[in-house]
Amino acid sequence: MKAKSSLVLLILFAGLAAACVSPRIVPLPAKGPEISIIPKPVSAVRQPGSFVIAANTRITIPAADLEAEGVGRYLAERLHSAFGLDLPITDGAPVEPQQVIILRRSDRQDLGREGYVLSVTPAAISIEAPEAGGLFYGVQSLFQLLPPEAYGRAVAAGAVPALLPCIRIEDKPRLPWRGMLLDCSRHFFSKEFIKSYLDYLAMHKMNTFHWHLTDDQGWRLEIKKYPLLTEVGAWRVDREDKNWNSRPPQAAGEKATLGGYYTQADVREIVAFAASRHITVVPEIEMPGHCLAALAAYPQLSCSGGPFTVPPGGVWPIKDVYCPGNDETFDFLQDVLTEVIELFPGQVIHIGGDEVDKSNWKLCPKCQARMKAEGLKSEEELQSWFVRRIEAFLNARGKTLMGWDEILEGGLAPNASVMSWRGMEGGIAAAKAKHAVVMTPTSYCYFDYYQGDPSREPQGIGGYVPLSKVYAFEPVPAALTAEEGRFIIGAQGNLWTEFVATPAHAEYMTFPRIAAMAEAGWSAPEGRSWEDFLARMVSQFRRYDRLGVSYARSIYAVKIAPAAAPDPRGLALTMTCESFRPDIRYTLDGTSPKADSPPYTGPLTVTKSAVIKAGVFAGGRLQGPVSETRFLAHLALGKTPRLQFAFKPRYDG
Ligand code: ACM
Ligand code: ZN
Repeated sequence: MKAKSSLVLLILFAGLAAACVSPRIVPLPAKGPEISIIPKPVSAVRQPGSFVIAANTRITIPAADLEAEGVGRYLAERLHSAFGLDLPITDGAPVEPQQVIILRRSDRQDLGREGYVLSVTPAAISIEAPEAGGLFYGVQSLFQLLPPEAYGRAVAAGAVPALLPCIRIEDKPRLPWRGMLLDCSRHFFSKEFIKSYLDYLAMHKMNTFHWHLTDDQGWRLEIKKYPLLTEVGAWRVDREDKNWNSRPPQAAGEKATLGGYYTQADVREIVAFAASRHITVVPEIEMPGHCLAALAAYPQLSCSGGPFTVPPGGVWPIKDVYCPGNDETFDFLQDVLTEVIELFPGQVIHIGGDEVDKSNWKLCPKCQARMKAEGLKSEEELQSWFVRRIEAFLNARGKTLMGWDEILEGGLAPNASVMSWRGMEGGIAAAKAKHAVVMTPTSYCYFDYYQGDPSREPQGIGGYVPLSKVYAFEPVPAALTAEEGRFIIGAQGNLWTEFVATPAHAEYMTFPRIAAMAEAGWSAPEGRSWEDFLARMVSQFRRYDRLGVSYARSIYAVKIAPAAAPDPRGLALTMTCESFRPDIRYTLDGTSPKADSPPYTGPLTVTKSAVIKAGVFAGGRLQGPVSETRFLAHLALGKTPRLQFAFKPRYDG
């Protein structure tokens, strides 16, 4: 019976077609829950009263505490740029306690490196933390207590009071690595955009920027000893008018004009900027695969010797990779890593290791000789040997090697950390073997995947990771014991940029999913709820509006789904979307819905042909795209179809 009714529905749906129109988008209305901190703090207790930061407020910091002074200056600069306030920073005891923001070191060691206590009373704001990272995150929470204008540019002095409700917040993160990857190889992003991106991370209390600097389609890091890496490897022919996966390679004599790279001075500036936001930059230098841009510059490092050009789009499989049979490959990589170590003070160097096609190694006499000399039984073991050799080099210089989960194949290097992307299994195996793991499985963490109906989204690589999916991400798998779970050090979102060429598009793919990812890394699972998160997102969207960030409004897209109706001549339509308590308005006559169109209150039965349009409204304004579906009433509607000729079981599809 069930199967038959679904067959009926299938036939009826032939008359339904979804489409979309993009209306004028207006910002959200001003109202939202009063306390809406993202990621959710451990505890936040509202108290009576409020505090207004005004021209006579001062910031005090501990004497001779340069780190706290850095946080104080960051706070003062942001209050200046948002509210036009020029607050003095003084050290020592405050003289006028009623007009003070106090940053203080705390001896509460249980708060860890990044925890803090933020207290707002009518007399003072105080942020206490054992480490400067905690003071910084206390400041981030302080800004989320202020009106959304705190995220904008200089409102007229006094036009919007910098008012905070009284509250006591105690907070610390669940995981020590809360990251975002930005792929700057597939498309190059300017230094200015990287700084904005770092500010976006800081706002979400993320502390790790995974900078994907090298790949087949572009080498983006100046290496003094190998200038061709950027002279040749940073540039490709411009085929942006064609789909990523159908771009012809560079022709003989054709000039490569598209690309860019970061000078070492740029990198130092970015690393210092990140440090001022308590963010560690983890560089990724891909090896032994994803390196065509490097091989275009130095083809002798491959098995075949080349020549190669920098591909302007997708290449698959990527057979041309570094030759581990050639000692010159290791001289090169170690020289490169020596400069990388100089530039990046963080503990971890990411060496990629993913998606290496090993077919050339099978044919290469040098690779085969290496395998024989080292007693390696497979090409997987050859990659493992490669990674171990690089790890020994990095460890000897005090650095930790991290790689994608493929580095488990053929045996994991003794001290390596693993980034699990092909699901959680690699991460689980690594954690059981007592290796540090960052979880970033595609199904929850890939921000190049669609976040809404693909017909309404800019072209993406595929997949489907809406905001609710990211929010459902639990980085510590239940398959691990409590002891093993401690090896899961982080959660990370990844923005690969094959299909993302501009800062506005990168923001669109990042926001609002970064907020859900931030909460997966920061907030304990017991305190998390999708409904509560969505309620807090109302204020977060107002902050994004003030920031001027091009966030996706995919959560406001109404899904119109048909179901069997009690009246057999019609269909019941359900309308749902991901946003918080959506006020869905619809029309049946093909006109655009307005704030006073009929509200959707439950399944809607349609019995006549109609063009159905629906959108989400708040404060009288449309919040996202208008969804459209056509319903065609026809003679077969509600009838049970019968087959005139029986189908052959072999073709039962
Ligand atoms: C990856 O997405 N290839 C790590
Ligand atoms: Zn080789």
